[in-house]
Amino acid sequence: MSQGTLYADEKIRGVLPKAIIKAYNLDVKVAAPDAAFEKTFPLKKIPAFVGPKGLKLTEIIAVSLYLCTNIQVLNIADPETKLLGKNATQYAEILRWLSLSNSEILPTIAGAFGPIIGRVPYNKKQVDEANAYLEKVNAVVEARLAEFTYLVGERITLADYFVAAQYVRGFNYLFGAQWRKQHPAITRWFKTIIAQPFLKDVLGDVEFIEKPVEYTPPKKEKKAAAAPAAKKEKPAAAPAEPAQQAPKPKHPLEALGKPAFAVDEWKRFYSNEETRETAIPFFWDKVYNPEEWSLWKVDYKYNDELTLTFMSNNLVGGFFARLSASTKYMFGCMVVYGENNDNGITGFFLVRGQEHEPAFDVAPDWESYSFTKLDGSNEEDKKFVNNMLAWDEPVDVNGTKREIADGKVFK
Ligand SMILES: *[C@@H]1O[C@H](CO)[C@@H](O)[C@H](O)[C@H]1NC(C)=O
Ligand SMILES: *[C@@H]1O[C@H](CO)[C@@H](O)[C@H](O)[C@H]1NC(C)=O
Repeated sequence: MSQGTLYADEKIRGVLPKAIIKAYNLDVKVAAPDAAFEKTFPLKKIPAFVGPKGLKLTEIIAVSLYLCTNIQVLNIADPETKLLGKNATQYAEILRWLSLSNSEILPTIAGAFGPIIGRVPYNKKQVDEANAYLEKVNAVVEARLAEFTYLVGERITLADYFVAAQYVRGFNYLFGAQWRKQHPAITRWFKTIIAQPFLKDVLGDVEFIEKPVEYTPPKKEKKAAAAPAAKKEKPAAAPAEPAQQAPKPKHPLEALGKPAFAVDEWKRFYSNEETRETAIPFFWDKVYNPEEWSLWKVDYKYNDELTLTFMSNNLVGGFFARLSASTKYMFGCMVVYGENNDNGITGFFLVRGQEHEPAFDVAPDWESYSFTKLDGSNEEDKKFVNNMLAWDEPVDVNGTKREIADGKVFK
């Protein structure tokens, strides 16, 4: 009989409980958050666990310890692993690292890279503060590991697995070659811990970056150019109101006027209706008018640099977030095909007008993608668009069929 359900998604806090379940072959179902999860756990915190006799747990430390102690009881008694330490003192030290990592390391790493990759709005001061504090915390970890092989005692404990898993995003986005040179102990320890099957089976390979990811500021030229022109229209005699704002610059595609079919309405239709049965015929019949809209195949240019599929999907999410100024003028679906360490990003966009640039150049990273115009009257092109809408068939990549791993809809 199943011993419970773990709710976890691709976020890093799901890694450790999943690793425990896998390493000890626990009879625990792993489920993505669904309606039942949201009802049971109003704060929607991941991971969460539903066990026997109505047990409901949230918080990664509680969930992980439950899986180790209540289900895998043998483990604590096992003199070989001692995952939870040899005695009460070591157990307390392990808890100290779990808590420090969960409250200081992981949130600070997220605060340092989240704004850079477009997950949250960019604010230089916040990013600088996050990086400065992260270095203080890293110094504590580096000091321990410069003197000892592991975080607690002389063997790997849960502390090592837990903290290393929470450091992964740091190595994904922030800790380049220079940082690793300056933190030899953390780097040596991290490489050792992630190579253990315990984490490797869940994480796959972690690729090391050469340089930290950098913030690319959005292009401002057009807005700046629009402001003085607007001011000139004011009569010179009128007293200037210093607080008055220049009129918001219009999107260049505003000039094309309203299309016959509002893209918002299509977005709602697509979300609510059966894709193949209803939405796709409607798209070609009612929405796509080649006089008003163009279709584009959009491909990421640097597929060979992609690593884990969920990270590729996050990249698409960041791109979509940066395209938000053009939401009113387009719709699109992009997918990640392939598997970890061998995947690519492709998709299609419906764009107001006949050019792609006015719609896409609001995103600073738009030039990381290539744009190929599609012909809505060509059967091959139509088939591609339909599959991007439905995600139910493999993608043809230079003659090879690749399964779709994930994807996002730009709405
Ligand atoms: C717990 O175990 C460690 C490592 O063997 C040892 O150094 C320490 O003295 C022990 N503490 C207690 C309270 O037994
Ligand atoms: C498909 O093949 C062409 C020509 O060899 C190459 O330039 C392109 O990068 C390939 N595309 C993908 C997605 O692999």
